[in-house]
Amino acid sequence: MYPFRADEIFVRNRWYIAAFAHEITRDPIERTLLGKPVVMYRTQAGAAVAMYGLCPHRYYPLALGRLEGDAIVCGYHGFAFAADGKCVRIPAQETGAGFCQPTYRIEERGPLCWIWMGDPERCDPELIPPYDDFGLDRPGWRFCGATLLPLRGRSQLLVDNLMDLTHLPYIHHHIPGGDVFKKTPMIAEERNRSFRLRRLVQTPWTGFFDLLYGAEHRFDGLCEMESVTDFYGPELIRTSGPVITAVAGLDSVPPEIGELYFLHGITPETETTTHYWGFMTRNFRLEDNALDAALLRMDVEVRGQDVTAIEIVERRVEEAAKVQRELLARSDAPAVKVRQKIQAMLDAEG
Ligand code: FES
Ligand SMILES: [Fe+2]
Repeated sequence: MYPFRADEIFVRNRWYIAAFAHEITRDPIERTLLGKPVVMYRTQAGAAVAMYGLCPHRYYPLALGRLEGDAIVCGYHGFAFAADGKCVRIPAQETGAGFCQPTYRIEERGPLCWIWMGDPERCDPELIPPYDDFGLDRPGWRFCGATLLPLRGRSQLLVDNLMDLTHLPYIHHHIPGGDVFKKTPMIAEERNRSFRLRRLVQTPWTGFFDLLYGAEHRFDGLCEMESVTDFYGPELIRTSGPVITAVAGLDSVPPEIGELYFLHGITPETETTTHYWGFMTRNFRLEDNALDAALLRMDVEVRGQDVTAIEIVERRVEEAAKVQRELLARSDAPAVKVRQKIQAMLDAEG
């Protein structure tokens, strides 16, 4: 399946975002993750539970049932399943059954719940993308702008999109300054937990800088700015806000106010649809609700433009890939590298 060699396109041995923590409550919800319906709820003690979402009796969705203590009771004939999946009651025979509904490990970390749907033997919470890298759930950092966009496109199209920012002046042409990404040299770096891409660009002051740095710091010259993208895996990519590092003709740069990260959680729903999680973290203007609101407005608009473009591509991509090979440019090198990494993960899972 495009763009991979295998029919199977989910890398399973990863932690994926399953839900924002606040979404999992005592009211069960169902979400399709990596092609499987999953029901999620909390025990009375507050632990998040994830279980295969269709009742093994007649396949009624368990999320339409109700909770009884820590067990979920199917809304059709009342079979009950404990939080560990064990079938503990079949009303018609007043017993349980020697049956266990599959469950999946959930790790709740700050605002996010991560799910492991791969090989249980390889499940290790240390493999969750490193929060230290992006200030999630850390003092001195602010989490804001949490969104979940449904994307009617395969997850790889989103990965490709995020690894190639030459789309900025086209898809996001309302944002001034995107032109500088067209020909910017990129520096690739293999880090311990991510494949990093740095771009050093020269740009005039933009309205976005007004928002972040304050209009009082505005100046006429070009500034040097660093843009960083980190690929942690097919499940999470981080892009960065602009950090001005130097200004031509000025001895000092406007005060560096901190870092702003845009996080992109990518969880395949089906082979051709994706849950696109978005949120931001920053380590400045921590109490600024107006900045939160402005960033959220901008972010929803920008992510929405990517979603629209990807959905258009998704409708044609299988057909097109049969007719023509992709014409790749120099700027595709990082996206191609990342595809190779994902292909290797798929190959390893066989
Ligand atoms: S379908 Fe769930 S108990 Fe019958
Ligand atoms: Fe984009």
